[in-house]
Amino acid sequence: MRSVETFIGAAALTLLFGLVLFAQTPAASQAPAASDVKPRPVASMSELMVQIIYPTSDALFYVVRGAPTTEKGWNELQAQMLMLAESANLLMDQRAEDKGKWMVDAKLLLDVGRAAFRAAKAKDGPAMEALSDQLYNACVTCHEDYRQGYGTRPRAGKQ
Ligand code: HEC
Repeated sequence: MRSVETFIGAAALTLLFGLVLFAQTPAASQAPAASDVKPRPVASMSELMVQIIYPTSDALFYVVRGAPTTEKGWNELQAQMLMLAESANLLMDQRAEDKGKWMVDAKLLLDVGRAAFRAAKAKDGPAMEALSDQLYNACVTCHEDYRQGYGTRPRAGKQ
């Protein structure tokens, strides 16, 4: 289980680095004028949820089973919380469904993600556990508002 989580964490990190590199690398042949360069979303909403937000949020929910005991473990968790927090910023870019309730819902994720990143940096397991409900609430609030068909079928796990 641990190695699967590590793998997913590494895959998500690779994806995120990919996003950063992609955004910074000019086209090989003819570089566009700087004023034409715009951020360009790579992941679909579904991919962002499944490949970054879902596994990193699980990492927080799983702290209740036992916080990391090694420096390496904490570093991994810290990286996952950073991805989770920054993914909220990705939800607020061109992918945002509107500039109203969507932004407010995404900010719930940003706030809890930011707090989780700080707690992981402080290696504070209890503080992370205490954020579980807040994180769960952030997911559910937006899903109730924007995820098609949410709540009309049985839910699998904490989403
Ligand atoms: C600001 C809005 C928002 C927040 C916050 C949010 N989601 Fe989502 N989520 C969506 C939307 C919209 C979809 C539907 C995407 C689609 O099907 O195109 C979705 C879909 C999903 C899916 C299903 C994707 C699929 O294609 O099967 C998962 C899993 C998921 N979210 C997990 C989470 C988790 C876990 C959290 C909290 C840590 C979270 N989401 C927070 C908006 C949000």
